[in-house]
Amino acid sequence: MNAIPEPVGPPQRGEMLVHVAAADVAHPCVTSNPIQFGEQLHAEARLVDDLVVPAPVVGPVLRETPSTAAIDGGNGLGLVVGPKANEIAMKKAEAVGSGWVTVRNSNHFGIAGYYPLQALARDLIGFAFTNSIALVSPARGSGRVLGTNPIAVAFPGRDEPPVVIDLATSVVPFGKIEIAQRLAQPLGAAWATDRHGQPTREPTDVIGGGALTPLGGTEAGAAHKGYCLSAMVDLLSGVLAGANWGPFCPPFRIDQPIPTRSVGAGLGHCFGALQIAGFADPDGFKRSVDEWCRTMRAVQPADPAKPVLIPGDPERAAEAERRVHGIPLPPAVVADLQTLARLTGASPVV
Ligand SMILES: NC(=O)c1ccc[n+]([C@@H]2O[C@H](COP(=O)([O-])OP(=O)(O)OC[C@H]3O[C@@H](n4cnc5c(N)ncnc54)[C@H](O)[C@@H]3O)[C@@H](O)[C@H]2O)c1
Repeated sequence: MNAIPEPVGPPQRGEMLVHVAAADVAHPCVTSNPIQFGEQLHAEARLVDDLVVPAPVVGPVLRETPSTAAIDGGNGLGLVVGPKANEIAMKKAEAVGSGWVTVRNSNHFGIAGYYPLQALARDLIGFAFTNSIALVSPARGSGRVLGTNPIAVAFPGRDEPPVVIDLATSVVPFGKIEIAQRLAQPLGAAWATDRHGQPTREPTDVIGGGALTPLGGTEAGAAHKGYCLSAMVDLLSGVLAGANWGPFCPPFRIDQPIPTRSVGAGLGHCFGALQIAGFADPDGFKRSVDEWCRTMRAVQPADPAKPVLIPGDPERAAEAERRVHGIPLPPAVVADLQTLARLTGASPVV
């Protein structure tokens, strides 16, 4: 049985672009992260160039059990494919306790944390993973071999806000290297290496063929753990899904080279959802999450000016601030938006 909702009519490209850009701006986590927003606009530029399908038929279901499915994203825009696949995982969790869905033949799906937040709204614990174009070296390696492969999972509190863990498995995203170059500033220590795998603080070394480092940064900083987490994401959302993996992932930016070899279809994602009641009384669990949060917040800070936070706090604070003062968009992002509006005939959104 094909449980996938059918797309509602084929929208025009300009219409879809405006829809996607509006959804991005509306989303709190994206509004708190202009670097990620800029990356997303590059993905939408691929849409303008007809490199991705704006309204894909997400399917067919390649394999299915009551709690799992492997689906084909139809080379669709990841922001369209991802929510549909996540919906299947959540429906399965509601029906049988847990749901896991892999996706092949997709594209950049935006911020990973968006998907577990959808699960929270349905009283589920949600997970999301995706692989992405190779920009990161493995521990002890050189060159661009792995994506920034994010991990996201969220847990509901009862009276406390949810714990939202949403992180790339590299020390920094590539956008931070580009910003440092524009501002003529040195990179942070252990952010990146040059083309020979040597640590560098010079942005042009990285842009000219170097790589980002996995979380941990150096051997002494336990970069092997970031590499292990990135491997987990790539094996789940790439290899298990039947998508490309590692250095073979297709680019989501039109200015990035296309790999010469393909080992699967498109980019891959993996979504998970768990019914809390399958493990614990939901209300009791949420009270315990509250207590967990309060325990962490009560820890004596090492620096009195910097209290211990709960994952998700920085994005909530940024959202609150930006709802009042607006979203700071880098000039390059504004230029991208204006170009996209001109190319599609849509009204300029900024
Ligand atoms: N789709 C893709 O291909 C892709 C790839 C990489 C990253 N991303 C997205 O980029 C965004 C940024 O990722 P990032 O790794 O730079 O995030 P980050 O480093 O800003 O935050 C990572 C996590 O740490 C938490 N956090 C931050 N400071 C904290 C503190 N002091 N105490 C406790 N928790 C704290 C945050 O709430 C968040 O959950 C994410 O939304 C991610 O999904 C997407």
